[in-house]
Amino acid sequence: MKPLLAPSILSANFANLEVDIRAAEKGGADYFHLDIMDGHFVPNISFGPWIAKQMKAITEVPLDAHLMITNPREYIPKFIDAGVEIIYPHMEASYDVYRTVQLIVDHGAKAGITLNPATSISTVEGVLDLIDSVLLMSVCPGFGGQKFIPSTIRKITDLRTLLNEHKPEVRIAVDGGVTLENIGSLRNAGADFFIAGSAVFKAPDIEQRVREMKETMR
Ligand code: DX5
Ligand code: ZN
Repeated sequence: MKPLLAPSILSANFANLEVDIRAAEKGGADYFHLDIMDGHFVPNISFGPWIAKQMKAITEVPLDAHLMITNPREYIPKFIDAGVEIIYPHMEASYDVYRTVQLIVDHGAKAGITLNPATSISTVEGVLDLIDSVLLMSVCPGFGGQKFIPSTIRKITDLRTLLNEHKPEVRIAVDGGVTLENIGSLRNAGADFFIAGSAVFKAPDIEQRVREMKETMR
């Protein structure tokens, strides 16, 4: 599977968002990652579906939304209506996560399931028939610019083995502390969708950084 890079706009300059978007586009961003935080599920508040709508109006690059919110089902249709292609709810957000994932599929978007660092990969088996990807958090969600948790590498390897056995076309996404330095080893471990916030948008040259990360992950 061709690896994909999704810059997270959480670390972009919101006073001048379009400039950062254009630079990442020129470098070859495959997706733009939208981090949705409600101040309950994670200790931070970001933005809602209206940003997805505004992004959609200015870029052809597809969008994915990472829902760090306690009540995902209430907002899923709004994000899909705004034009988001992949929705990543959290496994930990609901006891009836199958219903959440089903809602995404029924609304015509691709469903990914997100696991916090301490959540076991075996939990994905219950939703495997509905999902296109698994997003492994490699930091505790809530903020950009945190340090990559090394045990994620082992989790990627184990998840790849599990998926190869049951549904090999499912992608493995990694989110948190992904850098130009570690993206190669994450790729080798079996991940194929890379989310990077500060590594892209805090780089001295955003366009060049996207290009370098894409070359390294190939
Ligand atoms: C963290 C978010 C990430 C964040 C990544 O809760 O889910 O998407 O933007 O930022 P970096 O790449 O700086 O760790
Ligand atoms: Zn994210």
